[in-house]
Amino acid sequence: MPLSHLSLQTAADFKKAFGRDPRWIAAAPGRINIIGEHTDYNDGFVFPMAIERYTVIAASPNGTDKINLRSSAGDGASTIDLAQPLKPGAKGYWANYPMGVIAGFVACGLKPVGFDAVLNSIVPLGGGLSSSASLEVATATLLEAVTGKKLDPVEKALLCQKAEHDYAGMPCGIMDQFISALGKESHILLLDCRTRKFDLVPMSDPTVAVLITNTNVKHELTGSEYPTRRKQCEAAAKALGVASLRDATPEQLEKHKSQMDEVVYRRARHVIGEIERTPHAAEGIRAGNWPTVGQLMYASHYSLKDDYEVSCPELDAVVEIAQNIGMKGGVIGCRMTGGGFGGCTVALVKTDKVDSVMKTIEAEYSKRTGIKPTMFVSRPGQGATLLQG
Ligand code: GLA
Repeated sequence: MPLSHLSLQTAADFKKAFGRDPRWIAAAPGRINIIGEHTDYNDGFVFPMAIERYTVIAASPNGTDKINLRSSAGDGASTIDLAQPLKPGAKGYWANYPMGVIAGFVACGLKPVGFDAVLNSIVPLGGGLSSSASLEVATATLLEAVTGKKLDPVEKALLCQKAEHDYAGMPCGIMDQFISALGKESHILLLDCRTRKFDLVPMSDPTVAVLITNTNVKHELTGSEYPTRRKQCEAAAKALGVASLRDATPEQLEKHKSQMDEVVYRRARHVIGEIERTPHAAEGIRAGNWPTVGQLMYASHYSLKDDYEVSCPELDAVVEIAQNIGMKGGVIGCRMTGGGFGGCTVALVKTDKVDSVMKTIEAEYSKRTGIKPTMFVSRPGQGATLLQG
């Protein structure tokens, strides 16, 4: 569904729910990451792209001290009383995300007036496409309109990341909120997570398409495994005597191998290699050097699978099928994208072969796993936008 339709739909839903037209409509996208996985919290590089899948929020002031949120996803309504101190609800509660962002604005001295809001999302939930970041960034974009104060976009991403830490209990890096806030149509964003400087790399070659395959599995390890990986990276950095793995070289790692746990060593090997691969892949895309980009994507996947151990049999199945199709069949490269343990793969595919590649992946993946995948092609979407107000 194009963003303009989703926006109209959300305005209509708002009118139905609250009996008047919305004053503001804000949107923010989900994302995929082309390469640079589990590098953001190591001060490394990431190379994400906003996808044409958005969370949209329509809202209007209600003259009270309360924020009434309705989600069209059917998980009900939530009321936030601005006269009371804000605190997160139960773990897994969807309204924690907008609530964390509202708390962030309040903490900056930007208390909003009370409003009614309806939110709609076409970012698949729990699919590793950053549905939560898109909800946070859409909320922040709405609050900019409500408070009349536009934040610096990097500060906005950081505020949303803090909401995820404090209200959803997920110690994520900056990638998801950053791309949702700062993504640009027709571009992939190369971000240096240390300096937060970024480069927009054009991705407008009509002969190459980005194909996203949702394995439709989510293994419940994600919650505990992510913080464990962060700790292992910190342990490796400490053993190497560097501030973060961004500062370490493969040679240094080999030299100190005996001073660290074998698992910690492999975690560091992934991160150090991935930080190196990411700007190379960005250069490859800039130069249209597709074979190199493809090789780097596969190298990233196998490093995540074997050294970082965040893949799963379903993600590996898609990557293997794609690799078997190969360049001749139209697949340039494929890898898992996002945190791992399920969710999606991203593949670069020759546009004229997209249909046949999709058919093969769907048939083979269903045969191997008994699960039907969900697949779609996306161009690089637009970062957060205020559509009305
Ligand atoms: C999740 C986190 C990101 C990043 C990725 C892995 O999506 O939210 O910050 O760490 O995992 O690259």
